[in-house]
Amino acid sequence: MNIVDLIIKKRDGGKLTKEEIDFFVNGVTDSSIPDYQVSAMLMAIYFQNLDNEETSELTLAMAHSGSTFDLSSIEGIKVDKHSTGGVADTTTLILAPLVASCGVPVVKMSGRGLGFSGGTLDKLESIPGFRIDVSEEQALEYAKTSNIVLMSQTDNLTPADKKLYALRDVTGTVENIPLISGSIMSKKIAAGADAIVLDVKCGSGAFMKDYDSAVALAKTMADIGKSVGREVTAVISGMDQPLGMNIGNSLEVIEAMEILKGNVGGDLLEVALTLGAYMLISAKTADSVEDGKAKLMENIKNGKGIAKFRELLIQQGGNPDIIDDYSLLPLSPEKEVVCAEEDGYVYSMNTAEIGRASLETGAGRASKADSIDFGAGIIMKVRIGDTVKKGDAIAEVYSAAKEKCLSAANYLKGAVSIKEEKPEDVRLILDIIK
Ligand code: URA
Repeated sequence: MNIVDLIIKKRDGGKLTKEEIDFFVNGVTDSSIPDYQVSAMLMAIYFQNLDNEETSELTLAMAHSGSTFDLSSIEGIKVDKHSTGGVADTTTLILAPLVASCGVPVVKMSGRGLGFSGGTLDKLESIPGFRIDVSEEQALEYAKTSNIVLMSQTDNLTPADKKLYALRDVTGTVENIPLISGSIMSKKIAAGADAIVLDVKCGSGAFMKDYDSAVALAKTMADIGKSVGREVTAVISGMDQPLGMNIGNSLEVIEAMEILKGNVGGDLLEVALTLGAYMLISAKTADSVEDGKAKLMENIKNGKGIAKFRELLIQQGGNPDIIDDYSLLPLSPEKEVVCAEEDGYVYSMNTAEIGRASLETGAGRASKADSIDFGAGIIMKVRIGDTVKKGDAIAEVYSAAKEKCLSAANYLKGAVSIKEEKPEDVRLILDIIK
């Protein structure tokens, strides 16, 4: 088989066979196909797409390009969760302990943030002492004793995806539904769970800006799940404003703890409860969304959720005292308050630009090699539909340096639009795809 022939076949709209896809993925994994030919194939796929069968074959080949995690020694139905990425989306830190406290094992490999979207691993690392590098053996032990592990991907999980993603990132081939689906689902399949709940974000702060493309992405991932016998439920949720009020690593940990303690609610809690309820349904621990949400809320009220979070911290070396003393978490010293420049309604937000403002504070990374400031970020003070008066605070910005605060504040001013006209209600849960 010759890679040039395969590139030409895809370039001209042909359908790749399983053998051809396996040849391509093997060549990516062992580097026998040079980056320039892999990139050419990615661009051919970007323009010609893959059909469902090709997408499933690509996903399976990527899932088996390295080691896979065998969770069969853990009792019960194991359910994983994945978000396609958003701003102020810290649902994992809320629902993982809540779902685990309902008796369902949660073994979750998470990723780092890139660009405007945050990552669970960075948030966990803002907790003094917390270890995200957990061996597979250790993870199985943790899951058997506490029902919960939050960890980084092991080194040899889906090496083909690591190489392909790095090349897609620099060749303008990220935004393609078969490639995004293959990338996400290969990692989820290799991570071993029996069922997967996906949070497919849709709106100005998501990869998928409109409802139709979010649904197409969700359906493609659900079809892949079906082809490999894993139950997939996709929740399409809105990302037309930051999901929570805090953006930035330690700030998001604080908001997650406030929710677990039952002190605050809002959209972040609602999305966490919805995803968590579908996780309980997949694990046969709830028989409806209402039942699932009620069970999760019960464990917020009786303190079992925050107790499970404490158990997670102790298990993985994190300082559990942060739960009662937020000053033990980093907070950057410089502060700038962004104020409304006129009276009116908060009409709309450009969420990607708010994510960009958070990058300016030092809370995120523009490229993989960048280091991040765990104590930097933004606390939003308003949501779409709120009324404000000129001079009211719309956000607080925290950073290590004054100029970074000012630059982030500038982005924020451009990202939040205030008008006399009342905006339409923002929809939070747009659809459920099975
Ligand atoms: N997240 C992933 O893991 N892969 C993609 O391609 C896009 C988002």
